[in-house]
Amino acid sequence: MQPNRFMTIERHILEGEKKHPHATGELSNLLRDFAMAAKIISLEVNKAGLVDILGFTGERNIHGEEVKKLDIFAHDMMLAALQHGGHFAVMASEEEENIIHIPKGMSIGKYVLLFDPLDGSSNIDANVSIGTIFSIYRRVSPEGTPGTLEDCLQKGVNQVAAGYVVYGSSTIFVYSTGFGVYGFTLDPSVGEFLFSNDDIKIPRKGNIYSINEGNYKYWHPGLKRYIKHLQDVDNLDKPYKSRYIGSMVADIHRNLLYGGIYIYPEDHIHKTGKLRLMYECNPMAFIVEAAGGRATDGKIRIMEIQPKALHQRVPIYIGSEDDVLLAEKFLREYNNL
Ligand code: AHG
Ligand code: MN
Ligand code: MN
Repeated sequence: MQPNRFMTIERHILEGEKKHPHATGELSNLLRDFAMAAKIISLEVNKAGLVDILGFTGERNIHGEEVKKLDIFAHDMMLAALQHGGHFAVMASEEEENIIHIPKGMSIGKYVLLFDPLDGSSNIDANVSIGTIFSIYRRVSPEGTPGTLEDCLQKGVNQVAAGYVVYGSSTIFVYSTGFGVYGFTLDPSVGEFLFSNDDIKIPRKGNIYSINEGNYKYWHPGLKRYIKHLQDVDNLDKPYKSRYIGSMVADIHRNLLYGGIYIYPEDHIHKTGKLRLMYECNPMAFIVEAAGGRATDGKIRIMEIQPKALHQRVPIYIGSEDDVLLAEKFLREYNNL
């Protein structure tokens, strides 16, 4: 079915809610707040080349990486748009070391929010696609009290919704509550996210692989053999295409639409991978699985990993089911040789 051109994200969320008679409307309201934050961040990203927002703040975040101004802007904007609604008990962001409590005087809700305010920030200055990723859980601590670290350290299977925004050739908002994955493209002339991608399904097998091949010499043998297999015309009709933007949200979004695999592996330098379980891997795994794909750390399903720390990193193999299964097979067969 062709998406209705005049279906805004707000209307789509409301229509979805009507199908669930027990829905309280709260999740819909907070998804609307996200859409608002996304519009504001998108405007700022587009302005980045025009105003003095580019460059480093001179500070480093808790991972020891240089923090760019736009990361902080996006972090602050997410808080501003989402703290006041009374939906959340606690939040956590890639840009902050500890959990973020709801400020005094604001009402405390039943949901938990984890987010990467700006993914791919090394690409900002080069006009290359970047994004925002978020993940929503129900709190496990008693209602009415301040949220806790335990609320944030839940397995990905407990997510009630997740989504991302890619600020690319256009701005697209993709979300799922576990039943279908839907995309909305920002029409700047009317300032609305309009329904553009209905019930996104990832192809069962793709022909794209996305990995930082500069790290080849650090890889374990199973991964080396797998990537060589994808390049080898003797094994395949046609070699796979290599595509790597360096913003995982944009790399995975492309592979979601076209099919393929995205990998950030464990290797001799990145002993447990690079990407963060709570802010990047779990939400993207939730979306990709809801679209029919697969996401593991090479062995275990990403969303089954019990998190131990807020900023924990894990290896990730994510995308079309057959591609991820084949990668896992290579790791099993050759990593211990
Ligand atoms: P962030 O900008 O939120 O710190 O994330 C950067 C991540 C991810 O988006 C990207 O795919 C990956 O780092 C790229 O890492 P390499 O430069 O090591 O390939
Ligand atoms: Mn990131
Ligand atoms: Mn980030």
